[in-house]
Amino acid sequence: MSTALSEKPRRVTTHTLQEMKTRGEKIAMLTAYDYSIAKILDRAGIDVLLVGDSASNVMAGYETTIPITLDEMIYYASAVVRAIERSLVVVDLPFGSYQGNSKEALNSAIRIMKETGAHAVKLEGGREIVESVSRILSAGIPVMGHLGLTPQSIHKFGTYVVRAKDDAEAKKLVDDAHLIAEAGCFALVLEKIPAALGAKVAGELKIPVIGIGAGRHVDGQVLVLHDMLGITQDFSPRFLRRYHNLYQEITGAVTKYIDDVKNADFPNEKEQY
Ligand code: KIV
Repeated sequence: MSTALSEKPRRVTTHTLQEMKTRGEKIAMLTAYDYSIAKILDRAGIDVLLVGDSASNVMAGYETTIPITLDEMIYYASAVVRAIERSLVVVDLPFGSYQGNSKEALNSAIRIMKETGAHAVKLEGGREIVESVSRILSAGIPVMGHLGLTPQSIHKFGTYVVRAKDDAEAKKLVDDAHLIAEAGCFALVLEKIPAALGAKVAGELKIPVIGIGAGRHVDGQVLVLHDMLGITQDFSPRFLRRYHNLYQEITGAVTKYIDDVKNADFPNEKEQY
């Protein structure tokens, strides 16, 4: 085997993402929650895998991201980390694991890093999490921020509508984005905000800004895997592009399997010992 073929791919780091922003190369990020799918996404060349607390919805079936626990996030994240050779793995700190105080935030981040082998954590919020971000960073743990629609605060917002449409909320978001960047976050996710605001924040910040429903003039995009593959059917925000209809594909395969079993077509002569 040639050296080139046996070489492991170069790992994506927080520095790689910064270099990508500098040279204008977009960052592709997707969620992942398990070993087998993470392996496919990593080998396909995804830059960042987010073990999102959206696992609460798409893996565990809860209505919001609030119920998922730190232990559950650690379980999903360690499975993802075992699969990857190249991608940067970022893990959400779940609701209740960092809002209490910065010491709690640091302890939760340390558990994620120690028990999963992930490369970074993500926290939702602006000014109110700056102290926690600094404390986590002082332990050498890279932090990604998340502003705009922050699903852990859904009961404060009341709905999942577009955020920061009025001037006051837009100004607060821009201020918070600067605070998060100055605190030392290596990247920022902006969720469901006007495209012009996404472009403004990405233009003003030196760190990469990754959007989900934040328009095209940001430094990268993230989607929830189950939504973009069409496994989920009942979630259709305007920003979602479905690349496949896996719900239909899986239903087709499973109904065919059921038929084959019922008709004693499976297994055939060649599929037995
Ligand atoms: O949990 C998640 O999947 C996320 C993305 C929507 C950015 O935070």
